[in-house]
Formats: sequence, structure tokens, C-alpha cells
Amino acid sequence: MMRAAIVKTPGPAESLEIAEVPDAAPAEGELSIEVQFAGVGFVDTLFRAGAFGLPTPFVPGIEVTGRVRELGAGVTGFAVGQPVGALLNDFGRGARAGGYAEIAVAHASMAIPLPEDADLARIAGVLVNGVTAWMALHDLARLRVDDDVLVLGASGGLGGVLSRLAAVHPARRVIGVVGSEAKRASAADACTDVIVGADLIPALDALTDGRGVDVVIDPVGGELRAQAFERLAPFGRLLVLGNASGQDRALSGDAAFYGTRQVMGFSLGGVAHLVPHQVRTALSAVVGLTHRGVLREPAPSVVPLDDVAEVHRALENRSAPPKTVLAVRA
Ligand SMILES: NC(=O)c1ccc[n+]([C@@H]2O[C@H](COP(=O)([O-])OP(=O)(O)OC[C@H]3O[C@@H](n4cnc5c(N)ncnc54)[C@H](OP(=O)(O)O)[C@@H]3O)[C@@H](O)[C@H]2O)c1
Repeated sequence: MMRAAIVKTPGPAESLEIAEVPDAAPAEGELSIEVQFAGVGFVDTLFRAGAFGLPTPFVPGIEVTGRVRELGAGVTGFAVGQPVGALLNDFGRGARAGGYAEIAVAHASMAIPLPEDADLARIAGVLVNGVTAWMALHDLARLRVDDDVLVLGASGGLGGVLSRLAAVHPARRVIGVVGSEAKRASAADACTDVIVGADLIPALDALTDGRGVDVVIDPVGGELRAQAFERLAPFGRLLVLGNASGQDRALSGDAAFYGTRQVMGFSLGGVAHLVPHQVRTALSAVVGLTHRGVLREPAPSVVPLDDVAEVHRALENRSAPPKTVLAVRA
């Protein structure tokens, strides 16, 4: 049996409980991992609340680092005992997460070997957001060096990696939007400018002389999305990555047409199994940049598995640090 944080009935943070459950075992094409660290992101709160309809009971968590425990039939390129990082959402193949547990199972195409001296806590905290940010900026927004980029939710986990990857690309300008003055410092290192609060349009007009921005990266939605779309320059690209505000917003086709603007979406969970080579490229780039210290994500907050409900509460009330990882076996 293994220790895990499980959800029997989807609901609020209190529906997470620590329990002993049967060991997870790999099927064909999969590998199992002795989990040392599991990353926690806002999307996990959606899993926990039942947004993705996983059969109960289930174990949330879609990113882990640890050591390979067992290889399923047909898996090559990994050795038992080797350090590894993996994305766990089963990416269109089935309903699964499973990271908040001593043993997790990943499809081999979504796992990557790590250097023996890798910082497993730091890498666990960058897997989902790093791959999402990499694919969003490189494969979709096709960032150029003369782009002015606006990142909504720049104080968050995904927004932080997006800002830093855009900065090392480099874009001409990386403008971060944060929810309060207290969050300004969490975006300042990667951004050329930081806008505080929801009153985006006057602040953007002042920064860009009314020209607007070339790229908007939006994991937040709501009124911020509507305002950012209004200030998208001709040939600009708005990339929808999520609705952390809890609100989608209808955008006008005519506004895209007359303004010569593009609206795009990207969901790693929805598409990864269709483009495993792109995911692998992004995984290896993000892990490599992190390991070499080029992508300087702040060290994640590391908390025991037992405190998982508290981490979920903090994500939902916007008081969480930019990234938290659970120490499962460390
Ligand atoms: N497309 C994909 O494949 C993909 C991958 C990963 C994550 N996501 C999504 O991306 C979103 C962010 O995830 P995360 O893990 O980075 O979450 P997070 O660390 O909790 O960050 C959330 C960010 O959103 C901002 N925010 C939340 N509510 C807001 C509101 N009402 N108005 C304005 N800003 C608000 C927060 O701003 P302040 O704290 O500054 O107030 C914070 O910067 C989630 O919706 C998640 O599901 C999508």
C-alpha cells in the first residue's frame, strides 16, 4: 500500500484526505515513479472540485519528479532507479492524474530522464507551467524579438514562467499584470514593466503610446481578457490559456476582423497526446534551462504532503506563493 492524498467526493479543499491506497502499477507503454516531489497548480483545484469528471476515488496531481520504480511492457530509454520528471494527466488517453502519492504512473512519452544531480523540487515545480509556456510562446504565439508581450496573472505559477521565458527569448518588452501592489515584487524580476490592478487600458496606453501590444498571454480571463483584446495591436495574437478568475469572456469576431487580430487557445491536457514530440522538445528545453540556471524560477515553497488542503485553499484565495511543491518522500 502507498500513502496518497485522495478525493472521494469532489468538492472544496477539505475533500482532500490522506489515505493508504493500493500501489499504482504501470501498464504497457507506462512507467511507475517513486515520487519525491509533486507540483501543485491552480488546475489541481479544478480536478479536486470535479471539473474533469475523474472516477472517484482519485489522486490529484499532474507533475512529479522522483526515481523510476518499474517499466511497463515496451518501454525503453529509462532505467529503474534513474531520476525522472513526468507529466501525469493522461492527455486525452484516459482520466488520470495521480501525482500526490508515493507511487505515480506516467505514459512514457510524457516522462523525461533527469541528471543525477538535478534539483528535483525545483524541476517538479516547473514541468506543467514550463511546457505550457514554452509551447504557447514558441509553437503558437511564435514570439519575435521586436514583440511587446503582455502577460496577465504574472504573479502566478504559469504567468511567472511565461514572463521569464519571454524575457530570455527575448521579447522587446514583457509587461506583467498583477492583482495587487503586494504582488508587484513577484513579477518584477522578469518584466520590463508591471501593471497593478484591473484598470489595464489607461496603463497600457501610457506604456505603448496607444499602440497596444503584439502578444497577450492570458491564463486569467474575465474583464482583463476583454481589456487586453481591446489593446491588441494589428497582427497581434491573444493566447487564451485559462480562466483563473473563473470567468470566460466572449470576444467579438468583428473586433478581430476590423482590428486584424488573432485569438488562439492552448490546452496542454487536451492536446499533448497528439503531439508527443513537441511536448518532449518543450520538456527537455525547460528542464535543461532550469537545470543550467538559465531559466531562474524562484525556488518553490516545499511543504509536506499532509498540508495539501492548505495549499489548495491558498491557491483559491490568491494568497499562495508563485509555486508550491509537495514533499512526498523527501
Ligand atoms: N492551458 C494550459 O495548458 C494550462 C496549463 C497550466 C495552467 N493553466 C491555467 O492557468 C491558470 C493559472 O494557473 P496557475 O497554476 O499559474 O495559477 P496561480 O499560480 O494560482 O496564478 C493565478 C494567477 O491569476 C491571477 N488571478 C486569479 N484570479 C484573478 C482575478 N479574479 N482577476 C485577476 N487576476 C486573477 C492571480 O493574480 P494575483 O495573485 O496577482 O492577484 C495569479 O497571478 C489556471 O486557470 C490554470 O488552469 C492552463
